[in-house]
Amino acid sequence: MKFHLLGDPIAHSISPHVYSAAFSEWGIDAEYEVSRVSSDDLSEAMRNPQICGGNVTLPHKILAASIVDEMSDEVQATGACNCYWRTEGGVLSGANTDVAGLTAALGESEFDVLGSRVLLLGAGGAARAALHALVEGGVSSVAIQNRTLEPALALKKTAPNIATLVVEGEVLDVTYDLVVNATRLGLKPTDPDPIDLGMITCKSVYDMVYIPGKTAWVRSAIKRGIPASDGLGMLIMQAALSLRHWFPDQEPPIQAMRTAARVALEEA
Ligand SMILES: NC(=O)c1ccc[n+]([C@@H]2O[C@H](COP(=O)([O-])OP(=O)(O)OC[C@H]3O[C@@H](n4cnc5c(N)ncnc54)[C@H](OP(=O)(O)O)[C@@H]3O)[C@@H](O)[C@H]2O)c1
Repeated sequence: MKFHLLGDPIAHSISPHVYSAAFSEWGIDAEYEVSRVSSDDLSEAMRNPQICGGNVTLPHKILAASIVDEMSDEVQATGACNCYWRTEGGVLSGANTDVAGLTAALGESEFDVLGSRVLLLGAGGAARAALHALVEGGVSSVAIQNRTLEPALALKKTAPNIATLVVEGEVLDVTYDLVVNATRLGLKPTDPDPIDLGMITCKSVYDMVYIPGKTAWVRSAIKRGIPASDGLGMLIMQAALSLRHWFPDQEPPIQAMRTAARVALEEA
């Protein structure tokens, strides 16, 4: 059985280590490989008959939602898909495990989102999932800031029932309970911080990006005494939820997956 991670860039991903740990714990003959694909080739890659399913990562999650034949409620609500598989009838099914993955990771990190004011940075596929998870978690408002205005406005439209605001220019002078980074910034060591924490007041920080030794932004938050987590917890939880879609009768070995991720990051 073969599973793929489709995206571009893709080299930073430690997902193959995480899934291999699960397959080996279960004692099943399955492989998980990364495959760098362009937008033009995404549909063909997702429909490759030799592949049982897989994950989609940046920058293709929104495009993937338009490729699957049937979609979960989360894909419908967010317009983004990060997990797909072919059913016995050959139908391509899509889910968004980032939503519950982020909810679980925020819970693990003891960030209580109920009633909170959130600043969400980014408006791509990951931000779609983040906004949905935050709304489901009962936040009171979300301010969205993105480099480009259009995707931020499109993101706002996906959450019509709560107070969302698209911030242009400087973020508003309010205290945020939580700031979530759903941009790509932090993946490369030369990246600037997604936002200068000296310029805002916030009580906690969640960075969806993960790299060996934590991102500079998370380290800067911790230095300032702000509780902060990187995206490793979310990576594990969304992977566990993807496994539940592909292998509904198996219990994901979360501890083994976590250990494999830590080792892979230490060795990277
Ligand atoms: N931990 C996890 O499990 C997990 C899960 C999902 C995603 N992620 C991470 O989340 C990040 C975003 O993923 P995605 O799928 O949303 O990617 P995406 O769809 O390609 O979106 C990228 C986002 O980053 C912004 N961006 C890119 N370059 C930028 C720059 N130089 N300055 C400011 N903003 C910039 C984009 O803004 P524009 O709209 O202006 O281009 C957009 O908002 C990635 O680092 C990914 O690894 C982690």
